[in-house]
Amino acid sequence: MVEKKIKEYELKIDKSREREKRSEDQSTAESVFDLNVRKIIFKLMQKGIIDQIYGAISTGKEANVYRATDSDGNDLAIKIYRITNAETKFMWKYITGDPRFSDVRKKPRNIVFAWAKKEFKNLNRAKEANVKVPNPIYQVKNLLVMEFIGENTIPAPKLKDVEIQNPNKIFNIIIEYINRLYNEANLVHGDLSEFNILMDNDEPVIIDISQAITLEHPNSLRYLLRDIKNICWYFSKLNLELPAPVEIYEYITKGE
Ligand SMILES: Nc1ncnc2c1ncn2[C@@H]1O[C@H](COP(=O)(O)OP(=O)(O)OP(=O)(O)O)[C@@H](O)[C@H]1O
Ligand SMILES: [Mg+2]
Repeated sequence: MVEKKIKEYELKIDKSREREKRSEDQSTAESVFDLNVRKIIFKLMQKGIIDQIYGAISTGKEANVYRATDSDGNDLAIKIYRITNAETKFMWKYITGDPRFSDVRKKPRNIVFAWAKKEFKNLNRAKEANVKVPNPIYQVKNLLVMEFIGENTIPAPKLKDVEIQNPNKIFNIIIEYINRLYNEANLVHGDLSEFNILMDNDEPVIIDISQAITLEHPNSLRYLLRDIKNICWYFSKLNLELPAPVEIYEYITKGE
């Protein structure tokens, strides 16, 4: 019985691997399905957190994101961070200075695991502050399971790829999310732009929050202003009358 179950899981993982091969440009992307990841997926299947993994939604330098389903058939997104070739120098800059990660050892594996944990914790904090982000479900080592943003197996498009009907409203929501992140979640996203916001039925959803730092970080104010400038720059191209980024920055940092 157990043997049969193990074979079943192995087959499911192999299928995911095949789908990955087909969906990925192998010349640039290296597989993330190494033995350790397979073991983790195996455990998550046993626990019923994951049932199937489907094709890659995105294959990036930092991580691959897959659509999966849970045992009730609900869609999930799984982000698997690369360990080999990870940009650990870049990650380290965002990890040191964050008091939540003061005991992380400077080994590549540990840095990537901390990076995944940081995204999980940041998603939780953002959610508590009523910022719309994918609901975090589970994180272990270099793997993060979260809510799938999209509909009927189709992932939601990025802000940069949609024509929005009500740019003023969307702009105000995003600025309010930056405000809530800063004043309620004690976080600065640090890489906010039209690339890291999904549009779920006209509703902006903030993603890719692993590099987000707490306000204690020495660069938090610099990154806050950069995030605001990125968003203002994008919306200014849509012919909106916008306040100056510095005004928004002052409004947010005053915290009124
Ligand atoms: N929860 C989710 N639901 C649906 N799609 C998602 C989800 N999370 C990420 N994606 C998709 O995967 C892409 C990559 O995710 P993310 O930005 O978190 O990873 P990344 O490694 O930083 O990639 P990139 O370098 O492309 O920014 C996103 O642009 C989005 O299209
Ligand atoms: Mg991204």
